Amino acid sequence: MSEIKEIYLKDYKQPEFKVSKCDLCFELYDDYTIVTNTMNIESSKKDNQLYTLKLNSIDLELIELYLNDLKLSDARYSYKDEVLSVYNTPNKFSLKIKNKIYPQNNTELEGLYKSGSIFCTQNEPEGFRRITPYIDRPDVMAVYTTTIIADKKKYPVLLSNGNKQSENQYGDKHSVTWFDPHPKPSYLFALVAGDLGVINDSFRTMSGNDIELNIYCDLGNESKCFHAMRSLKDAMLWDEEKYGREYDLDIYNIVAVDSFNMGAMENKGLNIFNSHYVLANEELATDRDFMGIQSVIAHEYFHNWTGNRITCRDWFQLTLKEGLTVFRDQCFSADLNSKEVARIEDVKALRERQFVEDASPTSHPIQPESYISMNNFYTATVYEKGAEVIRMIHTLLGEEKYRKATDLYFESFDGQAVTTKDFLWAMSEAGKVDLTQFERWYHQNGTPRLLVSEKYENNKYILRLTQVIPNTLEGQRQRVYFFPLKIALLNEEGKEILEETLTISKEFEEFSWETDSKPILSINRDFSAPIIIKQEQNDYQFLSRHDSNSFVRYESMHSFGVDTLEKIIHNDEIDREFVDTYGYILDADLNLSFKALLLELPSVSTLMQRQEVVDFEPIYEANEKLQKHLASVYKDKLLSIYKNNHLPKDDSIESLSMDRRAIKNRVLKLLSMLGDEDIIDLVKNQYDNSSTMTDKIAALDILENTTQKEGAVSLSDFYQRYKNDTLVMNKYFAILAASEREGTLDRVMALQNDDVYDEKIPNLVRSLIGVFARNYKHFHSKDGLGYKFVADKIIEIDKINAQMASALAGAFKIYEKMNETNKKLMKAELKRVVSTHSLSKNCYEIVNKILT
Ligand code: PHE
Ligand code: ZN
Repeated sequence: MSEIKEIYLKDYKQPEFKVSKCDLCFELYDDYTIVTNTMNIESSKKDNQLYTLKLNSIDLELIELYLNDLKLSDARYSYKDEVLSVYNTPNKFSLKIKNKIYPQNNTELEGLYKSGSIFCTQNEPEGFRRITPYIDRPDVMAVYTTTIIADKKKYPVLLSNGNKQSENQYGDKHSVTWFDPHPKPSYLFALVAGDLGVINDSFRTMSGNDIELNIYCDLGNESKCFHAMRSLKDAMLWDEEKYGREYDLDIYNIVAVDSFNMGAMENKGLNIFNSHYVLANEELATDRDFMGIQSVIAHEYFHNWTGNRITCRDWFQLTLKEGLTVFRDQCFSADLNSKEVARIEDVKALRERQFVEDASPTSHPIQPESYISMNNFYTATVYEKGAEVIRMIHTLLGEEKYRKATDLYFESFDGQAVTTKDFLWAMSEAGKVDLTQFERWYHQNGTPRLLVSEKYENNKYILRLTQVIPNTLEGQRQRVYFFPLKIALLNEEGKEILEETLTISKEFEEFSWETDSKPILSINRDFSAPIIIKQEQNDYQFLSRHDSNSFVRYESMHSFGVDTLEKIIHNDEIDREFVDTYGYILDADLNLSFKALLLELPSVSTLMQRQEVVDFEPIYEANEKLQKHLASVYKDKLLSIYKNNHLPKDDSIESLSMDRRAIKNRVLKLLSMLGDEDIIDLVKNQYDNSSTMTDKIAALDILENTTQKEGAVSLSDFYQRYKNDTLVMNKYFAILAASEREGTLDRVMALQNDDVYDEKIPNLVRSLIGVFARNYKHFHSKDGLGYKFVADKIIEIDKINAQMASALAGAFKIYEKMNETNKKLMKAELKRVVSTHSLSKNCYEIVNKILT
């Protein structure tokens, strides 16, 4: 392993050399690739001294180096500890480096690698140094020309960034040269070569340029790319209308590959995607998959301005592009679908992933101060909390000033590598707000709490708020925040007496209003700030029935559910008022997806986050008890909702069809808790007769968790039908790995030998091992076998793909909060992982943080 070194933001220095031009030539062979890299380099110092140029290089075989066309002798350079040093370089020169790499052996999936028979790249954050020696940091921006030479038959499609410049044929080989006029950091470089299928379309931009759009995929999958193409065109139009941003090359290429560590990558003009976020049709993809494609396609497209045209000065600024781009894709999805449902889904995801992270030993600010492996910082905090921070700015400024501020940001920093401070400058300048205190959101970690107490006397309503800010991991105090808090006061009919966005900036604040009667408080409307609200008294029952703000309505129902479950855990008592409210919602006339969200009971993770010492068993028991009770009290109502909305042959992805599937699968799941035969028949029927993957998966999941016999029949039917489609098989593995049935661990272990399973493909690892590691019931089983299994996998997979392994290690983040029995078992496994010989720095960083 490379030496473990912690990198600090405070140590940032401007680069000593700049690369203005980078000409690359790739000769692709079956068992190796030759890279020739010719750079124009200039020292930032103007003193005519001789300096040592340092280039990042990992696992490269150097062939030869030329400085200003003169071959360098061995004495002029050295290669050690991932740095290639070239001595005594002049102020301005060209450097040509020829080196050899082995993409077919690259299992880390960083740099140039093979996904099946396709050559592809992944360079963010530091993959480019695995391709050729380079000043591999985002504040070094160059203009790239790329020539790819390969066998014509095997690799008819040769792609890189920018516009196509020329093509040539030589016998069995051909070459294509690409030119990207926009200076860019190396992490945005991309190359693809393969025998690919493609669909084309075009888009006319607002200033009348016609852009060629291509989506490439494995041959035979072309018909599954249309939803992605539709989404791309929607995103292009949306960015013009909402931000005035237009696309800037003649061509926009997207390539779908099966082996990819993350979701997708915004390489300039050549996005590379995990095929999960491109390929879909009504038979093979769930509604959730369709929504995921729409949002990730848009996300990568939006990066063209927020990320590529304006990029990050260093990796500590990651949230500059990610927080902003997530906020943009969230707004896009909200505009194209249901706003209310989108907001609730975003908040749910934030709390399930980011709040948990923020309460763990790996908690960090959206702008971290240090890292060992940058790969570990592509987190829910940097992305999702980062998006909440931008959303707060949007709320503080309002739509109009926010648009002026983003215009100013684009005008001021186009073509540059900048910091979050630069972004905040544009926001405060055009928004005319002082964001000095607001900036704390970038540098402090943990989730703030807001204590709320209310008083009503002499026709005066008084609201008292107290900010409670968690300490840092080291126990240092942190300071109070500046944030928008949207509230309303409601009368007994649920009508708004007033709605206001308060600006909170002090530890204690008091607000008061004159009202004729005691109002009901609706607080943190739309989840205007990413905080935890603690109310002295609550009106959940009223608000979940009557609040006009859909988020608070959801929130109240959710909190009501939490209280109800906690009462069951502590007093074994089911709250009748909650049961009544549940019935009220069942009858209410609402958007069906929204209704499905209101009817969803709080997750195991929600309750776990509230426990001082985590113990899952009581949570599972309480959940089961409440669900069974609701299902038996409302069986008839639930059945009629199911029947009214179950249209087995409707496979449209129009919103009404999706809404119907959402509600009927929600009620079916609840009904299945009864275990009644008539219900199991419905489920089986749905599996057999529905034409959508959403319905099939919902049914399969229920069958797996309720009945041995029917479950086995349907599962094997599913397997036979879809075993040749890896994307569908991911769903199969995930259902089995998430199963609450006895014996899940044994089955997961056995599935590793299934013909379809492949430890080198991240999607499959995530579906089988990753999902198991988040199956609280079995991962945390008291015999410790769940822990042992996952620890074994981390050690094994770390040798193949360190990024995958450290993602798995994340499952141990709740270590500190576990009960003594589980803690002891976890500790033993964590120690075993950390002391593994030649463990990657990725895994070391995560596990070490958990243990200390
Ligand atoms: N930059 C990518 C995105 O947000 C994520 C990514 C990071 C992909 C690192 C691969 C590697 O969209
Ligand atoms: Zn992104």
